[in-house]
Formats: sequence, structure tokens, C-alpha cells
Amino acid sequence: MRPKLGVNIDHVATLRQVRMSVYPDPVHAAVLCELGGADGITVHLREDRRHIQERDVKILRQIVKTKLNLEMAATKEMVEIALDIRPDSVCLVPEKRAELTTEGGLNVVESQEVVRDVVKALKNAGIEVSIFIDPDLDQISMAKRCDTDAIELHTGKYCDAPDKKHREYELSRLIDAAKAASKMGLKVNAGHGLNYQNIFDVASIEEIEEFNIGHSIVARSIYVGLERAVREMVELLRFSRQSRANR
Ligand code: PXP
Repeated sequence: MRPKLGVNIDHVATLRQVRMSVYPDPVHAAVLCELGGADGITVHLREDRRHIQERDVKILRQIVKTKLNLEMAATKEMVEIALDIRPDSVCLVPEKRAELTTEGGLNVVESQEVVRDVVKALKNAGIEVSIFIDPDLDQISMAKRCDTDAIELHTGKYCDAPDKKHREYELSRLIDAAKAASKMGLKVNAGHGLNYQNIFDVASIEEIEEFNIGHSIVARSIYVGLERAVREMVELLRFSRQSRANR
């Protein structure tokens, strides 16, 4: 079975917000992603509201037919919004105002008390919880102790590796982390920086159930359209997993 694909549509909202216009609408984008075979729609409601707005999450909750995944910081404000809107799943991410995008995983070891409370509140409401972390065994063990359902492994270092040697090292960290987390009974997701060129080896890691991919898909959609861009990524995920099974 191929891994699932959640398409992150934040960048559609970025294009809208840059002119404070009403288009392009991430709600329309979500429909096209689902037509292209996406298994879920992911949005990050940031504290600074730089792209996705609360209005988007509320409407998406009503129109998404697959699965709505909300990325958010582990704050009181965000927990209240999540409990009100009730996405299918929440992915807890770190947030810094000045960053271009989410730069590293959440440091669960340092913020365990807060994370544990947030996980509990969300799970009590029936929301599946994931925590975005670096492929680090201490972080994974602490995430498990915070009672999360899933982790999302940060693939950024693998994607940004400057050469083959570093890429292979980062890939081995992702493989070890995915295996360890799966053994602990955690669902394993992954994302950040993945594109049509670098997805193959990570998609071959059989413990990874779901990928969340945004920037490369939205960028490709400028040339080929969103539905096709999503379909091509779904096909790559299928191909990577099948090739691994046939090895
Ligand atoms: N997963 C998480 C937790 C993220 O924060 C992001 C970026 O918003 C992504 C996945 C998608 O990353 P990219 O846009 O680089 O594909």
C-alpha cells in the first residue's frame, strides 16, 4: 500500500495574503487536491496569521471530504480554536515569528508539561494528535510519554543535505527514527522540504504512513495545474513503495 498524502495548502493562502485579495482561495485548492487523489488537507494556522486565516479553517472543516489536519503551536489560543473547529487531526509545531517556515521540530523534552496538557485536551475531544519532531530518539521517547498518537518526522535536514554523504546520513537517521517510533506503537508521518526529486528514498521507508507536502506541489501547480501536481506526487509515492517491495 502506498503512503498517504496530505497536501499542505498554506502557500495558496500566501499568494492571496500578499495582495490582501480574496483569491486564490485555499478552499477551492482543497477541492482540486482531493480530485487529484490527496488523502488529506493540511493547513497551518500561525499565530501571526501570515497565510491561513480562521475563516479558511472553518470553511475547510465543512468542505474537506478526506481528512483535515491542522498544524498549530501548543498554545491556549490555538487549543481553543482546535476545540471549536474540530479538525480530524492536529500536528503540534514550534513557531517563531521571524522564521520563513517551520525551521526545526518541537523540542518535546523541554516543553513536556505544556505538550502533555495540550495532547490530553485534544485527545479528549476525539482529535488525533501528532507532534512534529526531529528524527531524534530522546524526542521520540518523550513524545510517546506525552501520550501522542503520532509523530511527524522533520525531513528538512535530509532535504537540505549539501551532498550524497550528508543525505545518506540524514536518511539513516529518518529510517532509525521511523523504526523506533513504530516499535513504540506510534503512527509515523513525515514532511518538510519534500519534492518530486527527493521523495523516492524517504517514501521507501515502510514505517512512514503519511507525508505532508506543500511548497513543491503548489509550486508545480503553476505549470501543470493543482489536480495534476497532486496526482503526480501520489503516483511517485505509489511507485517508491512498490519499488521497495520488489527489491
Ligand atoms: N509538515 C509540517 C509540520 C510543516 O510545518 C510543513 C511546512 O508548513 C510541512 C509539513 C510542509 O512542508 P513543505 O511546504 O516544505 O512541503
